[in-house]
Amino acid sequence: MEKINQSITELIGRTPLLQLNGYIKEHRLEADIIGKLEYFNPNQSVKDRIAAAMIDDAEKKGKLKKGDTIIELTSGNTGIGLAAIAAAKGYPFRVYIQDQVSKERFQVIHAFGGKTVKLTEVPEIVESMEKYGADFIECVKALERAVADEKNIWFADQTRNKENPNIHYKTTGPEIWQDTDGKVDIFVACVGTGGTISGTGRYLKEQNPNVKVIAVQPTPESFVSDERPDQEEITGVHPFENVEERFIPANLDRSIYDGWYEVSTEQAYQAARDAAAHDGILIGASSGAALWAAHQEAAKPENKGKKIVVLFPDTGLRYLSTHMYKE
Ligand SMILES: Cc1ncc(COP(=O)(O)O)c(C=O)c1O
Repeated sequence: MEKINQSITELIGRTPLLQLNGYIKEHRLEADIIGKLEYFNPNQSVKDRIAAAMIDDAEKKGKLKKGDTIIELTSGNTGIGLAAIAAAKGYPFRVYIQDQVSKERFQVIHAFGGKTVKLTEVPEIVESMEKYGADFIECVKALERAVADEKNIWFADQTRNKENPNIHYKTTGPEIWQDTDGKVDIFVACVGTGGTISGTGRYLKEQNPNVKVIAVQPTPESFVSDERPDQEEITGVHPFENVEERFIPANLDRSIYDGWYEVSTEQAYQAARDAAAHDGILIGASSGAALWAAHQEAAKPENKGKKIVVLFPDTGLRYLSTHMYKE
């Protein structure tokens, strides 16, 4: 039967699981670590899922109309997903993006005809950063103030838009459940907006309340500061433990995870390099962070023989300008 897709949105999801047999053997682990390879999405990240879901929902509800400009604040991948779909559907697109994310992301968004605005170019956001630091929730509020008078725009708002966790509940969770034949014991994911872990975790726990969900955040040292101006951050991943309540994204369901790890940029890079060297997959920095956390779980004696599914959000090709794969 003919199978010709008519839109990139038809290529999203149904990403494969791969057991990291090389990594497992190298580290003499006795649990199975299984990666969900989100770089198989048409624009190489998990964020294609939410980009399509948020646009589709806004169109159906009449919030997004022909001629409107789609806007978003992102550390990159959501911007790429939205830019691609905006291009395919004919919407103008403008993204507000952290200055320090890898230049590959800017290049891809520009290729799709999207406009990029660095956060430091928006006075309201600069003011917010002086007050609260680079906290992205405060930046979202500042962006709302900055565009308050603008007409014909639609703000996708991945930190609060419920289609973000919902699409993971409807697709990512069921895919993991089906592809493991319901035999997943532990699910590991990084937290940025919280959409992935909240939606996927909720679906898996509804199938089996014994599924353990593990969240990942960066160590405090992995952020750029006056002492560490050249620090490379784990793009897209934000702290949610030991931070003030107002810094926690609305889309993170804090009741969903059973434990959490703090991972440094160097630990994330090292785990990703190991996956490249022993399994032949090139994963991104947050994937490396999630893999490092999965490794800690796999090394626990009580997890011997268990199946640990770890979500790899994007491809290492988006980090070639960083030090990640430079040795
Ligand atoms: C590379 C990368 N990893 C992980 C995440 C975190 O995913 P979520 O926003 O679903 O919590 C993001 C989100 O921006 C990301 O871009």
